Amino acid sequence: MIAINGLLLLAATTLASPITPYVLTRQDVSTPQNASLPNVTIFATGGTIASQGTTNTQTVGYSVGLGVEDLIDAVPEILNIANIQGYQISNVGSPSINSTILLKLYSMVQAELAKPEISGVVITHGTDSLEETAFFLEMTINSTKAVVMVGAMRPATALSADGPLNLLQAVTLASSPKARGRGTMITLNDRIGSAYVTTKNHANSLDTFYSAEAGQLGFFINQVPYFYYEPAKPVGLVNFDLTNTTALPKIDVLYAHQDMDPGLFQGAILLGAEGLVVAGMGAGGVSSAASEVLETIYNTTSIPLVSSRRSAEGFVSPGDYMIAGGFYNPQKARILLQLAVAAGRSREEIREVFALNYPS
Ligand SMILES: *[C@@H]1O[C@H](CO)[C@@H](O)[C@H](O)[C@H]1NC(C)=O
Ligand SMILES: *[C@@H]1O[C@H](CO)[C@@H](O)[C@H](O)[C@H]1NC(C)=O
Ligand SMILES: *[C@@H]1O[C@H](CO)[C@@H](O)[C@H](O)[C@H]1NC(C)=O
Ligand SMILES: *[C@@H]1O[C@H](CO)[C@@H](O)[C@H](O)[C@H]1NC(C)=O
Ligand SMILES: *[C@@H]1O[C@H](CO)[C@@H](O)[C@H](O)[C@H]1NC(C)=O
Ligand SMILES: *[C@@H]1O[C@H](CO)[C@@H](O)[C@H](O)[C@H]1NC(C)=O
Repeated sequence: MIAINGLLLLAATTLASPITPYVLTRQDVSTPQNASLPNVTIFATGGTIASQGTTNTQTVGYSVGLGVEDLIDAVPEILNIANIQGYQISNVGSPSINSTILLKLYSMVQAELAKPEISGVVITHGTDSLEETAFFLEMTINSTKAVVMVGAMRPATALSADGPLNLLQAVTLASSPKARGRGTMITLNDRIGSAYVTTKNHANSLDTFYSAEAGQLGFFINQVPYFYYEPAKPVGLVNFDLTNTTALPKIDVLYAHQDMDPGLFQGAILLGAEGLVVAGMGAGGVSSAASEVLETIYNTTSIPLVSSRRSAEGFVSPGDYMIAGGFYNPQKARILLQLAVAAGRSREEIREVFALNYPS
């Protein structure tokens, strides 16, 4: 039984909405110091890893509720690996993570990694949008120290809950000198993946994070992280300095399909979008009606339009007016476009940023 410290009350939370934000009662955590251990900081944002169901067989429709201290309490083995500082950034399901939380996370992670005594950081996060936050940090954090994103597919109350072991592995990874220079990593279910390419592939299964084309960086055996490769910088990686950034622009993703209403593109712009990503069919295809509307937007505005794909994997090739998303899936293309627009890049400059990711 894991330590949930009186928070069982929360299990009575209504299941009508799948994820209910919880008002925190406890925030920052500091474990006893052992000067011979590395120092790791955990930033908790919510998600399934911080969730409780009403029974030990409930694996959907549960509520977020556990604070960062509960997560650490559930895995006392962590204290043999690192001294932990814990901060609660938010406590929401990851569909509710937004750009305000991303910017807060960026500034806290960047500041923490600048401290010489810190080996690395762990971010606990819901899995649904974990890859977006991970990619955002990959493209912004300027440090060779380990940034490890972790979550769980089963709530803390479930039989065979995966959160505690995932968290132990994440802290181990953040403590490991071998993890340096590898950018932001995602670890769940024994696997270690690069935030640059890793994506969520299964809505329910524990083994959900992988990258079919680029593969995994490494694997855990008996809590020891093994890497398949030396640290490497992926082609296309850029670093945006967000020191003076206080807000991120609104960028929308629109999903193409048969009979798609092209008015949706204009609607998104009327609602304030400063850039659009189109999850096109196949390698980025849209209907001729949609194409004409997109070309009109291109001709009459300076709004950047990025073409990505609704296919799970693959490359979208450069075209005339759309900026090709290359290998980026729509959600990663959206984060990159958001960062590039925030940095004040023009449409043609943004085209060059995306082109860095094309094979050369
Ligand atoms: C501190 O950590 C070291 C290395 O893991 C361990 O050998 C030692 O027993 C720890 N000291 C205490 C007081 O826990
Ligand atoms: C962890 O932090 C403490 C306190 O700042 C420091 O004394 C210790 O050297 C740090 N550990 C490592 C491995 O850097
Ligand atoms: C993000 O969500 C928080 C509440 O969780 C809210 O205060 C903030 O205004 C939101 N930011 C944006 C950009 O919507
Ligand atoms: C990253 O940090 C290095 C050294 O601290 C610095 O020289 C470089 O300008 C920084 N890059 C960005 C994009 O901020
Ligand atoms: C942030 O603002 C300060 C003060 O105006 C300036 O010196 C610095 O160059 C700016 N940094 C970036 C990355 O824009
Ligand atoms: C966009 O502008 C180009 C170049 O002026 C023109 O050939 C094309 O017909 C325009 N497309 C639309 C849909 O207005």
